[in-house]
Amino acid sequence: EESSLVFDASFLKHQLNIPKQFIWPDEEKPCMNVKELDVPLIDLKNFLSGDPFAAMEASKIIGEACEKHGFFLVVNHGIDAKLIEHAHSYMNDFFEVPLSQKQRAQRKTGEHCGYASSFTGRFSSKLPWKETLSFQFSDEKNSPKIVKDYLCNTLGEDFEQFGDVYQKYCEEMSTLSLGIMELLGMSLGVGKDCFREFFEENKSIMRLNYYPPCQKPDQALGTGPHCDPTSLTILHQDQVGGLQVFVDNEWHSIRPNFNAFVVNIGDTFMALSNGRYKSCLHRAVVNNKTTRKSLAFFLCPKGDKVVSPPSELVNDLTPRIYPDFTWSMLHEFTQKHYRADMRTLEAFT
Ligand code: SIN
Ligand code: FE2
Repeated sequence: EESSLVFDASFLKHQLNIPKQFIWPDEEKPCMNVKELDVPLIDLKNFLSGDPFAAMEASKIIGEACEKHGFFLVVNHGIDAKLIEHAHSYMNDFFEVPLSQKQRAQRKTGEHCGYASSFTGRFSSKLPWKETLSFQFSDEKNSPKIVKDYLCNTLGEDFEQFGDVYQKYCEEMSTLSLGIMELLGMSLGVGKDCFREFFEENKSIMRLNYYPPCQKPDQALGTGPHCDPTSLTILHQDQVGGLQVFVDNEWHSIRPNFNAFVVNIGDTFMALSNGRYKSCLHRAVVNNKTTRKSLAFFLCPKGDKVVSPPSELVNDLTPRIYPDFTWSMLHEFTQKHYRADMRTLEAFT
């Protein structure tokens, strides 16, 4: 019968022999001791205070990283360290309540917002060793408190402060991502304002990732290998470490840095850059000691925006690689066909 088991951290972290649905095939099992990725650290201070020379410098380094693998770090990003600390510590308020309470926000099949635990039907395998809470953010004027309203309505009044923290965090992420878009525009030689209109009224997604300790970290994965279908991801990982990126046919780690955000190019921006910037496979490994937390902000355009590269990036030498599509078409495809090991954009276009 179709009964499904539900596991959350309080159950998973004590299992000496992990349930078989979490054991990945040998060729996909993680390696812990991998090389560190050579990823530039971009200081945004002078760019954010309006220095055009600093903007040029930063955009040049970002461009090189994006052509190679699409990953870079930003520091002096202007976001209050207290807010980032809160965004991490408030995660405990949610993920450490009993499962039945978390399930008030249960994400339904085919939806992308809500709580997802590692649940299994009879035939599921390669399950991620994590719990997540995802919600939608909108920069549109007519939904000023969309994050807070959603969290309070689904989780209850006790979560009012919780809602405030992530509302503010998303607003900061949205502002930062528009700044990074300026640097990306400059780096591609299409001007800093080229992508402004495309992302100004973004309808982005925020995901809180909570990875419990795992007694068999060499057999499981926190997040399986994937490329982000979205435009740009701004990730904050805690001090535990676990993010890995597949570059030059090998897995590499990205060392944690609490002062930095990890920024990476997603499929939608890869298409917008006519393939010049890479959307790279990445994954998250787990460990047997501590819970790991990460916060991911996925910048998405409004669903009906047509993803088409600026004309400057298309010529006889560099013809169009991907046909026009809208973000909602790609997103719907991802929801339907998502597999933990697939390069979605290639399958979609
Ligand atoms: C992800 O890419 O979805 C998660 C990455 C992380 O938790 O470090
Ligand atoms: Fe990702």
